[in-house]
Amino acid sequence: MDYKIGVISGDGIGPEIVKEAKKILDKTGEVYGHTFSYDEILMGGVSIDATGVPLTDGAIAQAKAANAVLMGSIGGNTTTSPWYQLPPELRPEAGLLKLRKSLNLFANLRPAYLYEELKEACPLREDIIGEGFDMMIMRELTGGLYFGKRVTEERDGVMTAEDTLTYNEHEIRRIAKRGFDIAMKRRKKVTSVDKANVLDSSRLWRKIVEEVAKEYPEVALEHMLVDNCAMQLVKDPRQFDVILTENMFGDILSDEASMVTGSIGMLSSASLNDTKFGLYEPSGGSAPDIAGKGIANPIATILSAAMLLRYSLDLDKEADAVEHAVKQVLKEGYRTIDIMPQEEEKKSSVTQVGTAEMGDLIAERI
Ligand code: NAD
Ligand code: IPM
Ligand code: MN
Repeated sequence: MDYKIGVISGDGIGPEIVKEAKKILDKTGEVYGHTFSYDEILMGGVSIDATGVPLTDGAIAQAKAANAVLMGSIGGNTTTSPWYQLPPELRPEAGLLKLRKSLNLFANLRPAYLYEELKEACPLREDIIGEGFDMMIMRELTGGLYFGKRVTEERDGVMTAEDTLTYNEHEIRRIAKRGFDIAMKRRKKVTSVDKANVLDSSRLWRKIVEEVAKEYPEVALEHMLVDNCAMQLVKDPRQFDVILTENMFGDILSDEASMVTGSIGMLSSASLNDTKFGLYEPSGGSAPDIAGKGIANPIATILSAAMLLRYSLDLDKEADAVEHAVKQVLKEGYRTIDIMPQEEEKKSSVTQVGTAEMGDLIAERI
């Protein structure tokens, strides 16, 4: 079967890591008898340079016409890149937010899993790591602060900026249901994270999540305040199964969770709506500090491609094969620089490789 995949290479390390994920899709197609045709879509800084805006209507139409979209990352150095001299709605990130909103991608799944082989790259103590951990961050992606009212103006002679955080019950209910559905397929525990001791939007969040929980009597629900959650992720990450949270909290907590799995370069993600369509991207950014050096970890993007196979194309066997190949390569001791063991004396027991070599090694094992 032929699948149409939209590809957003984007900025910084984006093109480098997407190239490796395509390599993996192509190898999977070769082995299992599928073909993937790629449609390159411009978004982010490269789109600004080519068209003046971070996402054109044509680009949105291209994404809509695909079975799924694979993405690298967008954006530049936010203090030095000229893109950040532009008005906010013309900056690279605005393109990504517009795409998420236009495609109604309200459910963002970010699986944070500690590979047995990467225990030595994890900054936590051995007794905290224990048998390892496996959590799914379910982040609401089309509401909250990211899509509120934004104003910067002078008020009574004082420069003032305002961002509003709004959620309605429907937005909360649909993401909560997704969270509980996922929990039913996992260890049946949901930790709903909010700031209900301060925010009205969090109090509504908690009320609606409680209502949804009644439809899932087998799932254990707990509520946790976001500041405590940030601390618990480091103190005892094994306690978490599904973390269900709003947009901004999910953004911050997922970067934190990624680091306890060894590196942001390992954290994949899927952004889904009510259809089979999805946008698949690593959770990290364009890493301008290492762009062009050939050292970025392509695994998060490769695992995002595996999620694409699983969620949008129903190719479970193929997704399993990709995930297995990643595990195999780690077991054989290959590491990009970001997942090298922390301790000097353990470094000689593994082999450091670059972005393309890591992609080749994984492809060979499919
Ligand atoms: P970042 O995630 O790009 O980088 C943070 C740190 O992690 C850097 O040291 C970087 O080298 C490292 N890192 C990230 N991905 C890596 C990988 N695959 N392999 C090895 N190391 C990796 O975050 P930042 O520096 O705060 O942001 C840079 C730009 O990326 C900004 O413009 C930001 O808006 C954008 N951004 C885009 C996305 C996206 O496209 N989805 C996500 C996050 C940030
Ligand atoms: C992410 C990124 C984006 C976000 C930025 C680039 C808009 O940090 O996907 O986590 O904040 O959602
Ligand atoms: Mn982020």
